[in-house]
Amino acid sequence: MKAVVYTHYGPPEVLRIVEIAKPVPKDNEVLIKVHATTVTVGDTRMRSFTVPRGQWLPARLYLGIRKPRRPVLGMELAGEIEAVGQQVTRFKVGDAVFASTFEVGFGGHAEYKCLPEDGLLAIKPANLTFGEAAAAVGGGMTALRCLEQGRIQPGQTVLVYGASGAVGTNAVQIASRHLGAEVTGVCSTANLELVRSLGAIRVIDYTQDDFTRDGPIYDVVFDAVAKAPPA
Ligand SMILES: NC(=O)c1ccc[n+]([C@@H]2O[C@H](COP(=O)([O-])OP(=O)(O)OC[C@H]3O[C@@H](n4cnc5c(N)ncnc54)[C@H](OP(=O)(O)O)[C@@H]3O)[C@@H](O)[C@H]2O)c1
Repeated sequence: MKAVVYTHYGPPEVLRIVEIAKPVPKDNEVLIKVHATTVTVGDTRMRSFTVPRGQWLPARLYLGIRKPRRPVLGMELAGEIEAVGQQVTRFKVGDAVFASTFEVGFGGHAEYKCLPEDGLLAIKPANLTFGEAAAAVGGGMTALRCLEQGRIQPGQTVLVYGASGAVGTNAVQIASRHLGAEVTGVCSTANLELVRSLGAIRVIDYTQDDFTRDGPIYDVVFDAVAKAPPA
């Protein structure tokens, strides 16, 4: 099968499309034919080895000291189950699924990927395209887990900083439509209408205004892009 691999850290040019062995599912695994995947900011950071100061050693131990230990990136995918292991009961051949590869060493940037049936894997909702489903995985899980920490109650005010990104767009929708909060989204000029359409009752353009200087006090502030000043 074809896969996009990187054998050393660096700019996008280190990526190559090559032939590698097609994986064979173990007894508890499904083999997914990948129809859609994503390139997230996480993929680009791993490829270029861009990590926060102080994280160099732990990141290097995780990703590979001299060269990448996991040569195929890709944290999210959607596709169709092509084969199942002998013990698999939750899925069958032909099921359309979407998945995170976060717990299985990445590998979405390939034609096929195996995942355990009890992994981060679910049936794709019929009203989503493969592309839409693949793009909902990592940002959605991250937004949900972070917002749970805020114990948000209906009617509370929530500010989402970085509201137009993968994490932020999910956070705006979950906080407003699922948790019933009054959401303010912070993003750049071009994305104000997008963020409003996702459920934000107020939007702030970070290129024009600084939400920390005026405006209301919020019950919860979710920095979805790690760029708001901690103070
Ligand atoms: N995506 C995932 O699955 C995932 C999972 C775990 C953790 N994370 C982490 O979560 C963070 C965000 O990831 P992401 O995937 O959502 O990134 P992303 O899709 O690239 O989105 C980043 C957003 O941040 C906004 N932004 C950029 N500079 C800003 C600034 N100075 N002030 C305010 N907003 C700014 C951008 O808005 P404009 O385009 O409107 O400028 C953009 O929409 C990253 O640190 C990432 O490592 C992501």
